[in-house]
Amino acid sequence: MLLCQITDLHVTRPGALACARVDTARSLRRAIAAINRLSPRPDAVIATGDLIDTSHPSEYEVLRACLSELTVPLYLCVGNHDHREALRAAFPDHAYLRTGSEFVQYRVDLGALTVLVLDTQDPPNAGGHLCDARLTWLDEQLQACAGRPTLVAMHHPPFDTGIEFMDGLGLSARGRAGFARVVSRHRHVERVICGHLHRSIQASVAGAPEVMASTCVSTAHQITLGLAPGAPGSIALEPPGFALHLWQPGAGVRTHLAYVGPYDGPYTFDGESVS
Ligand SMILES: [Fe+2]
Ligand SMILES: [Fe+2]
Repeated sequence: MLLCQITDLHVTRPGALACARVDTARSLRRAIAAINRLSPRPDAVIATGDLIDTSHPSEYEVLRACLSELTVPLYLCVGNHDHREALRAAFPDHAYLRTGSEFVQYRVDLGALTVLVLDTQDPPNAGGHLCDARLTWLDEQLQACAGRPTLVAMHHPPFDTGIEFMDGLGLSARGRAGFARVVSRHRHVERVICGHLHRSIQASVAGAPEVMASTCVSTAHQITLGLAPGAPGSIALEPPGFALHLWQPGAGVRTHLAYVGPYDGPYTFDGESVS
């Protein structure tokens, strides 16, 4: 089972640039072209939130046009830049988005692997939250899929990253504590995959050190590596990319970070081009 994660697409209206600099739709199209060329082909792609940039519904039209080029089944998750109802309206064929509640939370079974997608949105805050209703849903779903290897996907990571600017926009303390309580009860959670940070970071879940979590680089712009105390927030045009989560029986989840080119290679170890 090969699950591709794209995140923080931040698609804008035609002619608009994210952060006044980044043509995010163009970046997304490049990432999709790279994913379509992958061999083996991923079984599914999950987009872990911040699908658009300013919550304007017209951005979802651009997003939909870009994503129509993807040749792999796609699942969408909300981030703090998204708008739940506008997302549902723009993707009427994505039936899993209509959850019967205000939250965009759902379960997907991909072969032997279960993916539970959580909604950490807390509008109008940029930070995230998991209220009792969402945590109860997670607990019930984990109970229902007990014994199946399970991956949880959500936008805001359940750990501090050391980048103070982004940690100030993180998951609420209550949401984080509740999340740790729930995942600690269910030993079949193999991994938690997140977005929001626009960087690749691995950590254990705060309060549940037995569960590993990670974030992923954006398909567009990245958050500057600012580990100095008090470092101001900024973006850097480091290479965009996506993650490939490979799950196999007995081996669990292995995560590969893939950059979107152009870049040179591949070459043999003797320097010859590999066709
Ligand atoms: Fe983002
Ligand atoms: Fe975000």
